[in-house]
Amino acid sequence: MEVIIKETYEAMSRAAAHEVARLLNTKPNAVLGMATGSTPLGLYQELVRLHREEGLDFSQVTTFNLDEYVGLQPDHPQSYHYFMHENFFKHVNVPQQNIYIPSGNTSNYRAFCGWYEQRIEECGGIDLQILGIGSDGHVAFNEPGSSLTSRTRLKTLAKQTIDDNARFFDKAEDVPIYAITMGVGTILEARELILLANGDNKAWAVGAAIEGPVTGMVTASALQMHPYAKVYLDSPSATQLKMRDYYDWIEEHRPGAPQSL
Ligand code: GLP
Repeated sequence: MEVIIKETYEAMSRAAAHEVARLLNTKPNAVLGMATGSTPLGLYQELVRLHREEGLDFSQVTTFNLDEYVGLQPDHPQSYHYFMHENFFKHVNVPQQNIYIPSGNTSNYRAFCGWYEQRIEECGGIDLQILGIGSDGHVAFNEPGSSLTSRTRLKTLAKQTIDDNARFFDKAEDVPIYAITMGVGTILEARELILLANGDNKAWAVGAAIEGPVTGMVTASALQMHPYAKVYLDSPSATQLKMRDYYDWIEEHRPGAPQSL
């Protein structure tokens, strides 16, 4: 795992966006795994800027989102469909038919989840998956206790996640209790992973994910088992890392390092 710590949220977002742009410049028809939440907003803004000002092209890109709340219509302002449209898709040129987001309103969740997994496979698998992290260390909606081999499925949200996400809803009771989420196993099959975290409220989760044991109790720790995982952090989210000096040392020596680094 590569740990890249930037002073600010803006610098962290730019660095992560440039990683996505690097992939699209070498593979214009890449399959991207998309994440929601406040964390990747800066990354999406930078990708939109690169599209508008530097011609970054999404016309051959396919996207798969990680998760969606159950029970919200796609036009509900807190649905992940709405989030993606407002914050990313309406500003770039990903073809509508190439956008996949789990349905939170299907009549058969099991069949839908199987179909979603199959579509990922038929599209050649995810090249690069963007991830945030919950304050309890979850990725997507893989709450503590999830299997590290789990696949796309219906999941009951943890109380801590409902409380964290209540800030986006009028009342805590409005936060859906269920979601459809890619599994940890699904996520680990992406060829590259980039996880972003910012703010001191993520410091515990970041420490546990990067330096703690690999455990289903902190599903982001599964990234330790992935051969190409990069973690982009701002300074406040990195305060509980014991190896901080080493990560900074690597960054400092990156310009002169052999190519494969
Ligand atoms: C939700 C999402 C996750 C996201 C997490 C953190 O639980 N399902 O994908 O990483 O929230 O959200 P935020 O970035 O707003 O802190």
